[in-house]
Amino acid sequence: MKIFVATHNAHKLREISQILPGLEVAADDPEGVEETAPDFVGNAFIKVRAIAARHPGAWCMADDSGLEVDALDGAPGVRSARYAGEPSDSARNNALLLKNLEGASDRSAHFTCAIALIAPDGTEHLAVGRCFGKIALSPSGAGGFGYDPLFLPEGFATSFAELSADAKNAISHRGRALAEVRRILGGRQSA
Ligand code: IMP
Repeated sequence: MKIFVATHNAHKLREISQILPGLEVAADDPEGVEETAPDFVGNAFIKVRAIAARHPGAWCMADDSGLEVDALDGAPGVRSARYAGEPSDSARNNALLLKNLEGASDRSAHFTCAIALIAPDGTEHLAVGRCFGKIALSPSGAGGFGYDPLFLPEGFATSFAELSADAKNAISHRGRALAEVRRILGGRQSA
């Protein structure tokens, strides 16, 4: 079974193939499509609808994810990639996050990953995964990407950036959303 994924990111495509073995995964870049929704679910559907129009009768999916910090009223949220401005820069985003949390007693945060799917018959499906934790006082670890060096997942003394890819996938927002995608596709393998 083939599925089109709305991304230009080879790393994301590889990760999806690893978590969804047996699927033929093909990228289709939704370039130029504006992510104007106020939340991850809305943006995931904007992207998947854009590519599904080009692949009638095929499975299509798109994801949108980011970090929400309680003490910052859910920021960075849908602006996670560009929290410190354009172009997207993880080191600057992390520095701004630490600055905005200076003196905060509550450092609770969670990642969300929303994956929108369109089936060959046109029906729409949604898988959402979350991972709760806290923002560290300083970065640690060299793995992962984005806010990983600052995110301490619940039940762990280490940051996401200190976990192996497999260990992170087992508990991450993306890993959890993709596990749900596997359940959705498992029941409907056609086309
Ligand atoms: P995307 O929607 O998956 O491209 O993610 C948007 C932004 O959210 C990324 O650029 C990162 O800043 C942040 N983000 C999403 N997932 C993760 C993660 O697993 N670790 C760290 N940062 C993440």
